[in-house]
Amino acid sequence: MNELVLIDARSDKAQGDALDMNHGIPFTRSANIWFGSYEDCRGADIIIVTAGAAQRPGESRQDLLVRNAAIFRDIITNVTHYNQEGILLIATNPVDVLSYVTWKIAGWPKERVIGSGTLLDSARLRYLIGNELGVDPRSVHAHVIGEHGDTELPVWSRANIAGVPVELTPDRQDDLFKETRDAAYQIIAAKGATYYAIALALDRICAAILGDEHSVLNVSTYVDGYLGIKDVYLGLPCVIGRWGIERTIDLAPNDEELSLLRHSADVLRDRIKMAMS
Ligand code: LAC
Repeated sequence: MNELVLIDARSDKAQGDALDMNHGIPFTRSANIWFGSYEDCRGADIIIVTAGAAQRPGESRQDLLVRNAAIFRDIITNVTHYNQEGILLIATNPVDVLSYVTWKIAGWPKERVIGSGTLLDSARLRYLIGNELGVDPRSVHAHVIGEHGDTELPVWSRANIAGVPVELTPDRQDDLFKETRDAAYQIIAAKGATYYAIALALDRICAAILGDEHSVLNVSTYVDGYLGIKDVYLGLPCVIGRWGIERTIDLAPNDEELSLLRHSADVLRDRIKMAMS
């Protein structure tokens, strides 16, 4: 039996969401969904944190930092009071910085503190490449890595379909990446927030954990030495299993991609310092 507990400062919202989800159970699979409190974190396999101030139209994920870092200290302290053995999955932005903050507050092994990272960005790029080339996005292998944000980068040198490098001109690559990177701004301006695709991304990570899949997903992970990058959380392809992140896959990016990744890491490290001050 799957159990899902919704915890929200706005209890009416959480109660409404729980009711709404329960009414859908006859169309999906058995689950026990209820509105609860931090005490219900006891024994949870995965604690997903999506709480925080919402990104305003035109606001960068980074602008959210100060507001959400303060909220996180309260949330993570409450969660870890009841649960020390689960996996923390962070989605709140700026997700890489808040994943690092969470890891420090919780004091858990880094493998069990995961950010949604650039999984959604990679999905967006895969969708755009598939749409461009007439291929199911699930058959497109492409990675966006680094910050889930303005300094993220596409690893075009590794993009492929059936092992064959993706054939796009440099200009078209730039177009598709810009559309990927700026997608959230466009969606937020249109409807106030993004939620469907990020929810599916989080569901995918949970399935990899609960199914002990050893799947490779571009999540935000703690990095300390990979390609000379130290003490930061950022999006990289990671093998995900029952106990969290098992290892990182070295994409062996080319020199230009490595330089962009190191820049992204430097930007994130500066913001982490700000959040931890
Ligand atoms: C987005 C949010 C999840 O990229 O940052 O849609």
